[in-house]
Amino acid sequence: PLPTTMVIAIDGPAASGKGTLAKRLAQHYGLPHLDTGLLYRAVALTLIDAGASLDDEDAAARAAARLIADRLADPRLRERAMGEAASRISAVPAVRTALLAWQQRFAGTAAGAVLDGRDIGTVVCPDARVKLYITATAQERARRRHRELGARGEDTTLADILADIEARDARDASRATAPLKAAADAVVLDTTDLDPDEAFSAARAVIDRARTQ
Ligand code: DC
Repeated sequence: PLPTTMVIAIDGPAASGKGTLAKRLAQHYGLPHLDTGLLYRAVALTLIDAGASLDDEDAAARAAARLIADRLADPRLRERAMGEAASRISAVPAVRTALLAWQQRFAGTAAGAVLDGRDIGTVVCPDARVKLYITATAQERARRRHRELGARGEDTTLADILADIEARDARDASRATAPLKAAADAVVLDTTDLDPDEAFSAARAVIDRARTQ
């Protein structure tokens, strides 16, 4: 059986495959999963729907404080523009503070949880039992995201997606509050040359090792 408080923190840049991996790990270990990027996307969508500017920090903070779980199922959250909008509002410290409580509540309610994002191992769950940092080259991530958006009918070019990803990496890694970075005690998994099954096995090996320690 899993020890109590089996929190698995999964961080990494946009389109690194961390979401797919987190979902599979959660299923495998029977843990609830939270894609924390969806919270930031939902705050951005709330502003857009209200006709507010993405630069309106007070409106963003209010939207974050009032975020409700129902909002997280909206298919528009997955659109390309929403990733960019989420990255912008995620630099607002008051937004991060409001969402921090939300995420920590989620992590603390069950026997454990899998959370994926940018700052799970560093800020949200610094005591997580296992921390993985999932990465891949920007080229490879752009290829994956381009394929994924194409499958959903969004018409984009690979060059545009690569530019998005590079801009997002730069913004997420350079913001002052909780920037994207691997925790000192995270295991880094480069998936550039791994398919999803290989990434899943590699992650499982790390987790199973941590569980028996
Ligand atoms: O993982 P994603 O692409 O859905 O995340 C969208 C944006 O949200 C990302 O570019 C930065 C922000 N984000 C964050 O700042 N911290 C997190 N834990 C998750 C996402």
